[in-house]
Amino acid sequence: MKSIVCLISGRGSNLRAILQTADAQRWDSDPGARVALVLSNRPRAPGLQLARDAGVPFEVVDHHAYEGRDAFDAALSERIEALDPAAIVLAGFMRVLTPGFVARFRGRLINIHPSLLPSFPGMDTHRRALEAGVRVHGATVHFVSEQLDGGPIIAQAAVPVLPDDTEASLAARVLQKEHILLPRCVRWVVEGKVRLDADGVAVEGLPPAELLLLDR
Ligand code: GRF
Repeated sequence: MKSIVCLISGRGSNLRAILQTADAQRWDSDPGARVALVLSNRPRAPGLQLARDAGVPFEVVDHHAYEGRDAFDAALSERIEALDPAAIVLAGFMRVLTPGFVARFRGRLINIHPSLLPSFPGMDTHRRALEAGVRVHGATVHFVSEQLDGGPIIAQAAVPVLPDDTEASLAARVLQKEHILLPRCVRWVVEGKVRLDADGVAVEGLPPAELLLLDR
């Protein structure tokens, strides 16, 4: 059975999507994968309750308890390495990770970001998309690199920006897509269909259309 580790900081709706989608259910079949551990840097992250309810092991590694990023990342690494996971998923994890951490888990460490990267890295993506007047917005799943929200892209989901959109309505439309996109990408990485090699992202047996979810 392969292991997946999810790192969260907050609400956990993407974690829920990973735990609950049909894709996730099919991971029960051969070779099999499961979310073996949920780690949160915030003791009060609501997403921890989801792990509890699902009977998934979870742990808080509170960044306040560590003297710096290196010490915090070392504590995270220790827990993750013990499981030798096939995928480590940043599912709303709001801490910047050190280059050492990123290098250690290169090719297994993925993040979901609520914009069509490379547009709008960082925070407040929906507000900035509205301000920029883009007609298409969305979400990206990418391998994590040293550059914030800058690693090689695995797949994206696009949604239209509608004339009467507010930040909240746009965020909700994107989030719906995130919940489809992220579990698929996790599964592909676990199954070895998407790999990070010297030339970038290598995709095996997935038609290009699978890597871009369109529609509203
Ligand atoms: C999502 O919008 C994700 O793209 C971003 O942080 C948010 C996390 O939401 N990285 P949730 O905790 O999964 O509900």
